[in-house]
This record gives sequence, C-alpha cells and structure tokens, in this order.
Amino acid sequence: MSAGSSAKAWRGRAERLRRDIEYHNYRYYILDDPQIPDAEWDRLLQELLTLEAAHPELVTADSPTQRVGAAPIDEFAEVRHRVPMLSLDNALTEEDLRAFDRRVRERLGTSDEIEYSAEPKLDGLAISVTYENGVFVRAATRGDGRTGEDVTANVRTIRSLPLHLQGKAPPLFEARGEVFIPVSGFERLNADAAKRGEKIFANPRNAAAGSLRQLDPRITAQRPLDIFFYSVGAIEGLELPALHSQTLELLRGYGLRVSPEIRRVRSAAGCLEYYAEIGRRRASLSYQIDGVVYKVDSVTAQRALGFVSRAPRWAVAHKFPAEEASTQLRDVEFQVGRTGALTPVARLEPVFVGGVTVSNATLHNMDEVLRKDVRIGDTVIVRRAGDVIPEVARVLIERRPAKTREVQLPTRCPVCAAPVERDADAVVARCTGGYRCNAQRKERIRHFASRRALDIEGVGERLVEQLVDAGLVETPADLYRLDAATLAKLERMGPKSAENIVSALQKSKLTTLARFLFALGVRDVGEATAAALAVHFGTLEQLLGADLETVQKVPDIGPVIARHVVEFFAEPKNYDVVERLQSAGLHWPQVEISAEGEQPLAGLTFVLTGTLDTLQREEAEDALRALGAKAVGSASKKTSYLVAGRDAGSKLRRAKELGIKVLDEAALQRILKEKRPP
Ligand code: IVH
Repeated sequence: MSAGSSAKAWRGRAERLRRDIEYHNYRYYILDDPQIPDAEWDRLLQELLTLEAAHPELVTADSPTQRVGAAPIDEFAEVRHRVPMLSLDNALTEEDLRAFDRRVRERLGTSDEIEYSAEPKLDGLAISVTYENGVFVRAATRGDGRTGEDVTANVRTIRSLPLHLQGKAPPLFEARGEVFIPVSGFERLNADAAKRGEKIFANPRNAAAGSLRQLDPRITAQRPLDIFFYSVGAIEGLELPALHSQTLELLRGYGLRVSPEIRRVRSAAGCLEYYAEIGRRRASLSYQIDGVVYKVDSVTAQRALGFVSRAPRWAVAHKFPAEEASTQLRDVEFQVGRTGALTPVARLEPVFVGGVTVSNATLHNMDEVLRKDVRIGDTVIVRRAGDVIPEVARVLIERRPAKTREVQLPTRCPVCAAPVERDADAVVARCTGGYRCNAQRKERIRHFASRRALDIEGVGERLVEQLVDAGLVETPADLYRLDAATLAKLERMGPKSAENIVSALQKSKLTTLARFLFALGVRDVGEATAAALAVHFGTLEQLLGADLETVQKVPDIGPVIARHVVEFFAEPKNYDVVERLQSAGLHWPQVEISAEGEQPLAGLTFVLTGTLDTLQREEAEDALRALGAKAVGSASKKTSYLVAGRDAGSKLRRAKELGIKVLDEAALQRILKEKRPP
C-alpha cells in the first residue's frame, strides 16, 4: 500500500469508529437501549484514541475523544441568533392559566378546545445548538435573546449531546433546549467540592450556569451536565411539521434528547391536570423544574397568534409556588447539636413557601446573623430549596420597624444551662455540657446508631427522643442495657418491634474499629479520619494511650483534629462510655496495622460504582482508605482506577471516556488482600 492510500485507510477507519461510537452513544443515552456491552464500546473508543494518537492529523473537532474538553480561553465570543431566543410569560395561578387559554381562543376566533403540548419547565439555562449538514458546529447561550455567548467548547463535553445527528439532516438545523445538572449529579458535585474545601453551589441551576460559563472546558467536562431540547431555531432545507409535538418527535429522531414527560393535553382542564400531576411527581424527577410550559400545538395557530415583545402569545409558563417568601421574624432560639454547637433558629410567622408552610428556618451561626443583620421583629425573606432545610436568606431593611431586638448569643446552654463557649475560630458557639446536656445526649446517641456508624435498625430520632426524655438512656452505652420489656412500654412500640430492637442492638456489637471510632462522634472525625485512626493504631488501647504528637502522625490528621481526638478521650465521661461499651460486648476483628508510614496505595484515587457482591461499597472504600488510597465519589482525570460493580452506569462510561483504568470486583479483592496496587 502506498503512503497515500494507507493514510486514506486510516482516515476511513477513524471515521467509521466515530460513527459507530456516536451510534452506540445514541443507543445508550437517548434510547436507553445499548446494543453492545460496555467492554465493546470501550474497545471502539480505545482503538480511536490509539489511532488519533498515532495520527494526530486525523483528530477532528467532532471526535468523541474530544469530549474531555479543549484548552481554556480568555473570553466567550458573541453569537448573533438568526432567530431570536424568546422568553415566556408566566401564569402564577389557575386563573392566570384560564385567562391565557381564553385569550388564545379569542385571538384564533374559535370556541373549540385547544390542543397544547404540556412540558416540564426545566430549571437550567437556555441553549441553542447548531448542526450543519448534521454535524455539531456551535452552541450559544440565550444572552439578551438576540446575542448570546459562544459556548461550543463547553457544550461539546456534554455526553448526551450528539456530535452528529442521526439519519438525513438538513444543511442547517438549530435545536433549542435547556442545559441542566440532574439532582444526583448536583449532590455529588457539591459533596466533592465540600470534601475539597471548595465553594459549593446554591442549587443545580447555578451549578449548570457556572459550568457552562467556564472558560476552561476541561472543568466543564467534569461537570455532570445534561440537556433536553424543546424547540427549534433557524432551519434550512427542511419543512417543519404542522404540530409542535411532531417537531419534538423530529428532534428525538435526530437523536436529540427530549423530556419523556411531555404530553399532549386538551384545553385549560387538561393543562391543569398535567400541572397537578407533574407537581406531585416533582420531587421524584431526576432534574429540577420550576413549573410547566404549555404551547399551542398547531404551528399554523402559533403563527396566527404571533408575539408580544419578548414572548410568544402561544405559550405560557405555569410556575410552581415561589420558593422564597417574606414573613415576620418573631424570635430566634438556639438549637444544640451533637458536638454542642449552637445553631440560631428563626421562629417565623408561618408562611407558605415552595408548597409548604414554614414556621422555622435556620440562621446557620452567629456570624451569619450579623452578616445579614437579622433582628427580631424584622421582615425577612425565607428560602426553601427542594428538601433542604428552609433558611433566612435576607432582611428587607426598608421594612424594618422602629423597634427591633438584637439576636443575643446565650451565655448558657438553653437545654442544660452549661456555659457556652466560642470555638477558637469564633464562628461556632458551643454548649460545654457534653453528656450532661439532654440535647447533646440525643444527638450523640442518634449518631451512634445511624447507618454509617453502628447501623442499629429501629433506633432513630423518635425512639432516642423518648428514651432520653424517659431517663432510660444517657449515653450510647446505656442502649445495651435495654430489654424488650422496657422498650415495649414506650409509646407506639409493640412487643415485636421491641424484640427487633433488642436483636438489632445485639447484632451491632460486632463492628469494625473504624465504625466504632466514627460512632463515638468525636468532633471533626468523619468516616475517613476514623478509618485512618483505626489502621494507624490498630487497637483502641493504642489510640487511648496516644498523646497529641502521636495522633498528629496519622496521615491526613492535622493539629486541630488531633487535639479534638486527644481531648475527647481525656474527658472522663467519654472514657467511661468507651469502657462501658466494651464491657457491653462491643468488639471488632483485629485491624492489620500498616507499618509506620507504609501506605501501599498512597497517591492512588479510586472511584467505586455499581453494586458489589461481596462487600458494601462503604466497607470497600474504608478498606482502600486504610491502605492509603483516596476513595471519591466521581471520576475525574485524577482518578487512578474505577471499580465497577454490577449495573455500573454512567460513571463507568465516563471513566472509560477519560481513559481511566477499570477494575472488577475480583481485582478489588486482590488489591485488598495483597495490599499492593494492581
Ligand atoms: S420554550 C418561544 N419550553 O424557560 C419559546 N422554554 O422562562 C421559548 N424553559 O428561556 C422557550 N423549559 O430557558 C420552553 N419546555 C420548555 C422550557 C423552557 C424551560 C426555559 C427557557 C426559557 C425560559 C423562559
């Protein structure tokens, strides 16, 4: 073969691979019906990566290998929208919606019932995506509706966006939709950010906006962005169908994602039914919505209705009740947490916000109270985002009455009257009552029994409340003295449940040193720190005998946490609880100590996904951490290995795209057994 013809052959092969990978992405992301096993897909991508590495001239901008993100830029270029990107009028009440439907019929001069396309109103960012001859060429934000920002490099990293349209595409096709971050991805993103001590996002919408407007597409590539399309912009060489709902089908046919919740409904009654149904299911949807949108389905009718300023007359957004509302601050009380931290809680004039009545909201800490300048008697804005605890967002200063009262940090604990002290950083105030404080008792016991600690089934908030109030338990150790007869006397407790709790307590006695240390609730000792302490010291006795200097030698434990650890065990009451727990029969298998400084997996980062058959994911993570590895929630370029259990899904796919090595459960078991990297 001549040089020219082999170059041609490579090019042909690369094109073929790209087409195949795109097709399988479509089966996977859009149809949710993969045709080939992940390993096969993996092989295709690997082959393309190898081919492109050997022949860099074959790399194209639309190659699936390019989704990891291009080099950063200084600023976004402007894009002028050929067809303006409109916004929507809002309907806030049922009456608003009925009035909208009435206007539509009047303008169309008909008394017939109108057919609408009813759609979720996605709470993300509007985006316009242009395909030329079926190839993705550009993505732009809405901007002011006429001119937006060129975010092509960022949108390219969205895995579920096809870089080629399926089937025969026209010369120009502009699809419009919403970029968003699914709730689960958002939670993971924030958990990871919190772990790294980085700023967390207020809500998925902000996270999506921040990710899309990133100047470094490699960062965007690590964000779990997704996209749904709901309309079209400029189009050439194609006649659009007569109904909007058919256009949605057309989008689907091209392999563009369209929300599966979209329905055709008839008349205002149909709209309202849809609104109620989606409202009920709102919390269980995988993405955030802030209402629903109704669009007149007939394109002819749409044309006849036209536009007013920035919004079409043929569509309306029916919003869910606001998640912010203003109300009066009646008082501020202080709640005491597990480690004694005092949280100021706002007692409010009850107010309906985000679909529920709220009468309490958190003020986080005294610094926040001062920063927001909150005073009793003020009119405040209460915010409620999803299932998150409502918070006081800000004060309406212009409505401040002449007489207000300042919020005072109490000098004594409101529950046990022990003195309140400020932490060294002065942000958090704490009750010094320890186990003498009923509030701390309850929280410590609840934490001790919680799933990630000793996982005692049936011992939850309500039971702990009753047990402490009845004077039956003061510390976690007292739990093990409870018998079925005593428990059965409690409210809402039958003999059978009482028996179950006793056996759950019995079962919890066999644990691990790491879990035990975590369960004790030492300040700032989370699961990872507890695991590090366990492997470093091997036995509880060794840890109890350790001084500040020794504890600081544990990897990842700094002077502050070390002090918390040493102070915790130096407190006679805590020491006593630990002893009594041991005499109650709590025990754990001997921990194999890694020799001083020996961290066979140090420097490696693992991501576990899917279901493991032989151990819980948390156990596996603990075991990896014990060997010095990092175990994190989501894959990035820094990930060394992804361990894929059964039914591993998008994380696995993402890892493969990032070129991360994938291990199965057997390989994980080998690593844990042999204590050396694969
Ligand atoms: S249609 C001419 N459909 O809501 C029609 N918009 O408040 C213009 N949005 O800018 C938009 N879900 O970002 C439409 N199913 C949906 C939508 C939707 C969310 C957003 C979009 C728009 C904003 C208007």
